[in-house]
Amino acid sequence: MTVVALVPAAGQGTRLGLDVPKAFVTLKDRSLLERAVDGLFASGVVDEVVVMVPSDMVDGARALVPRARVVVGGAERTDSVRAGLAAAGDAELVLVHDAARPMTPPAMIVRVVDALRAGASAVIPVLPVADTVKRVDADGAVLATVDRADLRAVQTPQGFTAASLRTAYDAAPGELATDDAGLVERAGGTVVTVAGDPLAMKITTAFDLRVAQALIEE
Ligand code: C5P
Repeated sequence: MTVVALVPAAGQGTRLGLDVPKAFVTLKDRSLLERAVDGLFASGVVDEVVVMVPSDMVDGARALVPRARVVVGGAERTDSVRAGLAAAGDAELVLVHDAARPMTPPAMIVRVVDALRAGASAVIPVLPVADTVKRVDADGAVLATVDRADLRAVQTPQGFTAASLRTAYDAAPGELATDDAGLVERAGGTVVTVAGDPLAMKITTAFDLRVAQALIEE
């Protein structure tokens, strides 16, 4: 079964506070984008990679990741994934993997694909939540304490049969979601979990980048 990985890398990464789009920020000589794409190929379970970048970064991305196909992303992450799906051709299994998770262990990528090959139609890697989580109102007053035993933090790559992901995106034109499995859930699909990995952390803030730098230096 052909496995195509879509890598949304079209965000500006404003929360990082740098003047290049986040995927092009360098972590010890290699950009987040290169690290994310190399990790996907290193897993040995990905046949093709499609990268979605800002329109003015297409040539730069082609130079950085020559093995990947590069297309223009969109204004929101869901728009970028739509653009990638349109370029995914006759993929049977599709992974969606944030460029912002450059240290994702290849073994975790294999776990996601193994679960798809075992029959799941949507798979997400997850971690237990360490902090206690509370629901608050608009003023920050606590409404409830959520039982953290029931909670999981969700990472990428998320894996799908191409049919389930296309159906979910077609069912929700223009809808936004913070993750792709959320759209599959809304379309009535079943999503299963596999073990995530702390190294698949997402780089969002300058602090995250410092943590990643320290880990890479180790
Ligand atoms: O901003 P955030 O960290 O949630 O973005 C997650 C991933 O989605 C990043 O790799 C980012 O480049 C990508 N993205 C995208 N198109 C957008 C916004 C975000 O491909 N319009």
